[in-house]
Amino acid sequence: MVDATADRSRFLALEGVAKRYGQVTALAEVSFDIRRGEFVTLLGPSGSGKTTTLMTIAGFVEPSAGRVGREGLDITRLPPEKRNFGMVFQGYALFPHMTVRGNIAYPLKIRRWPQKQREAAIERVLAQVDLTDFAERKPSQLSGGQQQRVALARALVFDPDVLLLDEPLAALDKNLRKQLQAELKKLHRDVGKTFIFVTHDQEEALALSDRIAIFNKGRLEQVGAPEEVYNRPTNRFVATFLGETNLVPADLLAARGVCVEGLRPGGLVSIRPELVRVSSTPQGEGVVSLPVTVSERLFQGSQVQLSLAGPDGLPLIGHVRADDEALLRVTGRGETCWVSWPVGAGVPLHNA
Ligand SMILES: Nc1ncnc2c1ncn2[C@@H]1O[C@H](COP(=O)(O)OP(=O)(O)OP(=O)(O)O)[C@@H](O)[C@H]1O
Ligand SMILES: [Mg+2]
Repeated sequence: MVDATADRSRFLALEGVAKRYGQVTALAEVSFDIRRGEFVTLLGPSGSGKTTTLMTIAGFVEPSAGRVGREGLDITRLPPEKRNFGMVFQGYALFPHMTVRGNIAYPLKIRRWPQKQREAAIERVLAQVDLTDFAERKPSQLSGGQQQRVALARALVFDPDVLLLDEPLAALDKNLRKQLQAELKKLHRDVGKTFIFVTHDQEEALALSDRIAIFNKGRLEQVGAPEEVYNRPTNRFVATFLGETNLVPADLLAARGVCVEGLRPGGLVSIRPELVRVSSTPQGEGVVSLPVTVSERLFQGSQVQLSLAGPDGLPLIGHVRADDEALLRVTGRGETCWVSWPVGAGVPLHNA
């Protein structure tokens, strides 16, 4: 029986989930909770365990250890067809011989929905993914983005409690991908379901998600809202995987009398390039100020990115606004200038 008092924040729960294939550890003791209605993204490089995690939630992979819970119930061994989860697989295989309508009808056929309900559900979902006019076409007569939307419709049509999406946008070119990201976000708002989305694209994860779970080598490195994981990464992997950052050794700061709260000897401070100020003279009180030499300049439109060499050759990145001509004149290749940031803007990294 479903526990009616079950905490909304624990709609789905992974507790110490591990998966081993012989000597290979695909997943090592992963634990986190998913809220009802949330858009959660599993983000990580290739082979980090994203698909394994998704397949474990779907019920296609049985974990070697740990459990999967739903609203207080243990569903670890519940077969996939009893979970009522919709799934868009990596590479979203549509049935090529069936029309769009046939593809979308398929899950309803398996579930033996009555004809009338079937038709209503298909019309509703066709409208949701904007394919009403394409219902009688075969997948080969559709663009990549349209095929992608058929796969989404097929996963949504039977009114699943959760939608699992494994890199659904990976095969698309950049513009189409951007467009479908916006559509996916709107779809999530419209249908109000829990979406669990897999990608290895950091920007995509930051743009779409309520929360992001970051994987590396089968381990869960950090879970949090996009702003949280971007602004307050807890370790080096997360800091460097989510966009560019400057990593400054604790020892270098200590030698300059800078004391950062929570920073251990041998540790690192992460400071995003957009928080670094480039100037021609050292800055004063309350800021870290380091002398640097410009090694490379990269024009990026609104700004110029500077690759810099700091004390002991420490590589750093800073930006100068493209309209700051005075500063650009004194920050040519080989010139010496200064970078600075407020002491509190640096994020101390654990297990760096
Ligand atoms: N059936 C299997 N047998 C053996 N090893 C497997 C199996 N399935 C996955 N693995 C291994 O487990 C690890 C995690 O795989 P997984 O598919 O979860 O990665 P992923 O994060 O989805 O990667 P990608 O971004 O490339 O899809 C990889 O090292 C993979 O080779
Ligand atoms: Mg995968």
